[in-house]
This record gives sequence, structure tokens and C-alpha cells, in this order.
Amino acid sequence: MTPAVEAFGARIPLIGLGTWDLRGRTCVRAVEQALRLGYRHVDTAELYENEREVGEGLRASGIRRDEVFIVTKVWPSHFGARELERAAKDSLARLRLPEVDLLLLHWPNPQIPLSETLGALGKVKRMGLARHVGVSNFTVALIEEAMRLADEPLVCNQIEVHPLLDQSKVIAACRRHRMAIVAYSPIARGSVRNHQVLARIGKAHGKTAVQTSLRFLVQQGIAVIPRSSRVERLSENLAIFDFELSAAEMAEISRLASRDGRIVDYAYAGAPKWD
Ligand SMILES: NC(=O)c1ccc[n+]([C@@H]2O[C@H](COP(=O)([O-])OP(=O)(O)OC[C@H]3O[C@@H](n4cnc5c(N)ncnc54)[C@H](OP(=O)(O)O)[C@@H]3O)[C@@H](O)[C@H]2O)c1
Repeated sequence: MTPAVEAFGARIPLIGLGTWDLRGRTCVRAVEQALRLGYRHVDTAELYENEREVGEGLRASGIRRDEVFIVTKVWPSHFGARELERAAKDSLARLRLPEVDLLLLHWPNPQIPLSETLGALGKVKRMGLARHVGVSNFTVALIEEAMRLADEPLVCNQIEVHPLLDQSKVIAACRRHRMAIVAYSPIARGSVRNHQVLARIGKAHGKTAVQTSLRFLVQQGIAVIPRSSRVERLSENLAIFDFELSAAEMAEISRLASRDGRIVDYAYAGAPKWD
């Protein structure tokens, strides 16, 4: 069983497979291989146009459905109450599943009242279409607002986190509200690969800079969803639970973070940008 972070009754495996940009057979194969290797968490979204392939990879793997944590996300153009319910049903139809484990709001949408969207998200959960619900790309202010408005627990905030980006404020806000943190782009789209400090620290443990980055996050209880289409990298990224970074190594890696280390510089329809 892969280690997990728990929040409001949700048990989110600490490592998952990211699938953004994986399409067609590449996506089916990556999901199938990852699950066979031991991954038990797969991240998709209606935006990624690969929910069909994620469902297919899940079935091809032969792993029991109840052993895998499947996450999808609703795109903000579908945040009106009726549209959200429709979008959730459409995602499930593409995945060919009766429910997902976690349904997220993909990005904040300032054009639709958050109360309406959260009301619809809670309803979708109560209808049995999602076991848990949560958010993604929510700033500190939006987390506070969402916590006041939500009628179902928001179990996580999926945000960009890796050793080169300072996300301390939003991470602190999530922890204050006992939300799990799921790190997207956890290896900074592969760019940590050649980082000297990460490579040196990793080498002392017989690990790569990528594994060191992922370990740094999971050791803080932050779930990671690195993406790869290559089986040897899927294995590499999973092999992060058999070593431990010392307090001094953790502190040294923490000092690499900067406010301008962000990769995903996007905001839907003028949504507030970062903290
Ligand atoms: N909620 C959101 O708004 C949001 C935004 C962005 C991403 N996400 C999710 O988070 C997932 C991960 O983020 P990401 O795809 O942006 O970036 P990432 O996982 O940080 O990096 C993926 C890149 O790193 C390479 N890579 C993977 N493992 C490697 C290894 N061991 N050594 C060297 N290179 C390696 C991959 O190439 P190969 O395929 O060639 O191995 C790919 O180019 C996404 O796929 C998506 O599911 C969510």
C-alpha cells in the first residue's frame, strides 16, 4: 500500500501519476504501466481530453477499482450550478466510472459566485458522483472564503509545489484548515533534473535529483503527481519511500525556493494571482 495523506476522511496516496498532455495510446499505456508498478492515484481533468484513456488504462491494468484513487477536475467555464453537475456526469461517462474519488475545481472563476459553485460541488458529492471534493489553484484569500462557504469538506488544494518555488503562505493556509496539499509540476517539468544541490544530496542516498525533489515534498506530507510517459521514469519517481532526508538536508533544500520559481503562470478570466 503506498503511503497516503489523510484529510477529512479522504486517504490520498502520496504519489500519483499526472496525465496532463498525455494523449491517446501513450496515456493508456502510461496509466496501465504506472498502476502495474504500484501507483494507486491518477490525476486527470476534463481539460486534458484524456479521461477516456485514463479509464481505459485503469481497466487494462487489472488493478481493482477500489484500490485506485482517481481524481478529475471541472473546468471553470462549467462552474454554474447546472453546468457543474453536467460536467461531472460527462467526466464520469468518459472515464466509464460511476464515481471518482476526488473532484476538484480546476481554477478559481471570478465570474461565477463561489457560493454557487461550492453549492453545486457539494450537491454532486451528495449525489454520489464524487467521494470527496476539493479545489485547485486557490490562493490564501480564496481558501478562507471557500472554507466559510462550503457545505462539504474541501479535502485538498492542488497547487504548483516544487523545491524551486516558495509556496509557504498558501501551504500554511491549507494546513491551518487541515486541507491536504497536492503538488503539481512537483519536479518543475523535469528542470530539477540537473540541479546541483539536489543532485549532490540525492547522490549521498543513491538517488537522483528528481527523486530527491519528490522525497522532499512527501516527507512533508505533501502528495506529488509527477507525469511521465516513460516506464523507467515511472519507476524512478515511485522509488522515494525507501530513504529519508535529514533535517539539515531538508533545510538546505528549503533554501532553494524563490518567489519567482513559478512555472504555471496562468489565471482563468482574470482570477486573482498568487499570494
Ligand atoms: N491543477 C492544475 O492546474 C495543474 C497544472 C499543471 C499540472 N497539473 C497536474 O500535475 C501533473 C504534473 O505536472 P506537470 O506535468 O506540469 O510537470 P512535472 O510532473 O513536474 O514534469 C513532467 C516532465 O518531467 C519529465 N520527467 C518525469 N519524470 C522524470 C524523471 N524521473 N527524470 C527526468 N525527467 C522526468 C517528463 O518527461 P517524460 O514524459 O519524457 O518522462 C515531463 O516532461 C500534470 O501532469 C497534471 O496532472 C495540474
